[in-house]
Amino acid sequence: MQGLAPERVRALLAASRDASALRGDELRGRTVANLFFEDSTRTRASFTVAAQRLGAHVIDLGAKGSSVSKGESIADTARTIEAMGVDALVVRTREAGGAALVADAVSCAVVNAGDGRHEHPTQALVDALTLARATGRESGFDFSGLRVAIVGDVVSSRVARSNIASLTALGAGVVCCGPPSMAPTALESLGCTVCTDLDALVGEVDAVMCLRIQFERHADAAAPTVSAREYRERFGMTTERAGRLKDGAWVMHPGPFNRGLEIDGEVADGGRSLILRQVACGPPVRTAVLDACINKS
Ligand code: CP
Repeated sequence: MQGLAPERVRALLAASRDASALRGDELRGRTVANLFFEDSTRTRASFTVAAQRLGAHVIDLGAKGSSVSKGESIADTARTIEAMGVDALVVRTREAGGAALVADAVSCAVVNAGDGRHEHPTQALVDALTLARATGRESGFDFSGLRVAIVGDVVSSRVARSNIASLTALGAGVVCCGPPSMAPTALESLGCTVCTDLDALVGEVDAVMCLRIQFERHADAAAPTVSAREYRERFGMTTERAGRLKDGAWVMHPGPFNRGLEIDGEVADGGRSLILRQVACGPPVRTAVLDACINKS
């Protein structure tokens, strides 16, 4: 998503919006392989749904149950699957740069389904389509005047990096909020602002994107200097805090989420929550992306 021109982001969003008008045979006779070397529910399932809606065959591989567990490299696995005649590889890795590594190793289309802390570009498209639908901006995807807060473990989040890129490309203002260990001021180089006081922000923004604390990514980085209890008190989207959102403001979360930590269950299930609408935007976005990558490259 970083570096993608605003008109390309808008074209992918328009194709996602219009995905229901596709005939369903756009990928007939084609094969899409999911190579998920890190766990996933939403992304993996929605790429499968998307490929099947376009008439493609789907191969589904994870690290467990494939020869990666015997030491085969990700690049060799990708080349092996490509040699069977697949048309696209959908790749998720624990490591930043995993999809780029695979793209260098093969000739077919490669879609990044999340690479370490780096990027999750289709999630950013999902979030932008959801927000456009909720705020009536689906015709031109012009987010001018929208102010979006991304709250939590921003530094560990590929979703946050892709969303900062897409939301600012579409014209929104983005503010990242969290403790300094999770939302360092260095993030401002990405085009957002940074703040450490969610209570000062909560009544000012049009949408709050809550993030999960990425405990699994803390092993190779400085440990956050905040306890779970302090995190919830200062940065959780509690029922009380959600009550101070401005009229018409939305609460988002890319999932999976931890009820009672970064978001209260009552907020996640409440009227301001877009969480299940985000999930519902997964198949149309991935349908548009697969069609674009395989048929229109
Ligand atoms: N949002 C997201 O990427 O969720 P999954 O890890 O379940 O795919």
